[in-house]
Amino acid sequence: LIAKAFHQNFIIPEFTTFCENIEDLYWKVKSKTDGKVASYIPQLARYSPDLWGVSVCTIDGQRYSIGDVDVPVCLQSVSKPLTYALVLNEQTPEVVHQYVGHEPSGRQFNEIKLSADNKPHNPLINSGAIVLCSLLKQDFNLADRFDYTSQMFKRLAGNEHLSFNNSVFLSERETADRNFALGYYLREYKCFPKGTNLMETLDFYFQLCSVEVTAQSGSVIAASLANGGICPITGERVLDAGAVRNTLSLMHSCGMYDYSGQFAFDVGLPAKSGVSGSVMLVVPNVMGVYMWAPPLDQYGNSCKGIEFCEELVDKFNFHNY
Ligand code: DON
Repeated sequence: LIAKAFHQNFIIPEFTTFCENIEDLYWKVKSKTDGKVASYIPQLARYSPDLWGVSVCTIDGQRYSIGDVDVPVCLQSVSKPLTYALVLNEQTPEVVHQYVGHEPSGRQFNEIKLSADNKPHNPLINSGAIVLCSLLKQDFNLADRFDYTSQMFKRLAGNEHLSFNNSVFLSERETADRNFALGYYLREYKCFPKGTNLMETLDFYFQLCSVEVTAQSGSVIAASLANGGICPITGERVLDAGAVRNTLSLMHSCGMYDYSGQFAFDVGLPAKSGVSGSVMLVVPNVMGVYMWAPPLDQYGNSCKGIEFCEELVDKFNFHNY
């Protein structure tokens, strides 16, 4: 970092000016007050609708944060691309995609619907993520699988904040009729590898939804993805570059629920949202951004998060095309 600073060859050379722009966008978006905080579990319903934080981490480790960036927030569906990346880190895409497709579902994230060849459409909707949970370290017991996964998430986060919210986990499990129904449906259609324990797999899925980051540590995870799997803070290679490439490809086409097509059109970058109000955005080879504001739009995406992504791309033209 010091050598780069000395030679002024950062990926964003005018970082101070860049941050001033981020700050302006933050305040502009803060005034947007539409959307509804998720209320299906009390732990999410208790989030104040006014919480709003944005953190940026570049691939060379420059940081900027503003707002509520130190509050632990559960990953919810933001865990899905990470689970997928971890599975791809260990198994070939050919094997992984025997179990899950590559296509946007064009439906809600928790619908009981498989593709024509009886697989979940992609790993970023509930059905696909549940199947991916069954593939992740399937020879370990559940405790070791959770240890492995949370340690990998923490390495992606540069050893910054990562916690587990047991109340979220218990509430998720308590209110998960749809996910249980999905699990049985998936089992009926033989979507799981042999020997899968369905109840353990669902528990694992709820547990990964209940892992917490802060916007700051989440931005480091996003930056590790932007950096091809090497954490910019620790310099450690955590994920194989191919696993990251495949993950970003599906985040681009499937990461924002049934708004993914419009998001790809308007913003043109890989991202993943979660029902907690998080949006993790990756600008490949530049930076990771983690936005958090609980009020959600009709699709389940953070209203402020979407607005911020659109404003960011208007301002800096990070759009892929
Ligand atoms: O499985 C559920 O219903 C939620 N806990 C998943 C969270 C979420 O963000 C929805 N995502 N695709």
